[in-house]
Amino acid sequence: MSEIIEELRAHLRRSLSAKRFRHCEGTERASLSLAEKFMEDQHLCALAGLGHDICREYSGVDLKNITGKDHEHPILLHGEAGALVLERDFGIKNASVLKAVRHHISGGPGLDKVGKILFAADYMEDGRTHLSRQERERLFSLDLDDMVLSIALSIRSHLEAEEMPLEPALMQMIEELS
Ligand SMILES: [Fe+2]
Ligand SMILES: [Fe+2]
Repeated sequence: MSEIIEELRAHLRRSLSAKRFRHCEGTERASLSLAEKFMEDQHLCALAGLGHDICREYSGVDLKNITGKDHEHPILLHGEAGALVLERDFGIKNASVLKAVRHHISGGPGLDKVGKILFAADYMEDGRTHLSRQERERLFSLDLDDMVLSIALSIRSHLEAEEMPLEPALMQMIEELS
């Protein structure tokens, strides 16, 4: 497993912008600390955290081709595309890791612990300057479901303020956890 992580890390270092690569490693570290806190498998969480944005810098055309889907905002396909590429190019078969990556952008109902940890880690990693230290500490003090709910509500408020579309998956997850 750790060989795959290092192979993936080398690929991401070569293919992503420096800023995005830092975000991926930051999400890996945050995933590891949440895995420890919530007693989840550290290798699986590290793998999902590191690899989740593997397709974040792909073009809209590439994202549509990989997923075979059309989308008004093709960037929202980068989770689904990421899961497909991690399986195809890195042989990652673990269903929790693939589902976590597929749903990391908007979450979704029925996420397991690996999925919830990735959703939270992506939002909370150290490089995210939108979070104050107090807010990061407040989130970290919550249990996993409350942490994910609090983050999902913040994302919903942000999307509403920006008049951006709300993905049904995000709304369904909020309903499930409320
Ligand atoms: Fe992402
Ligand atoms: Fe991300």
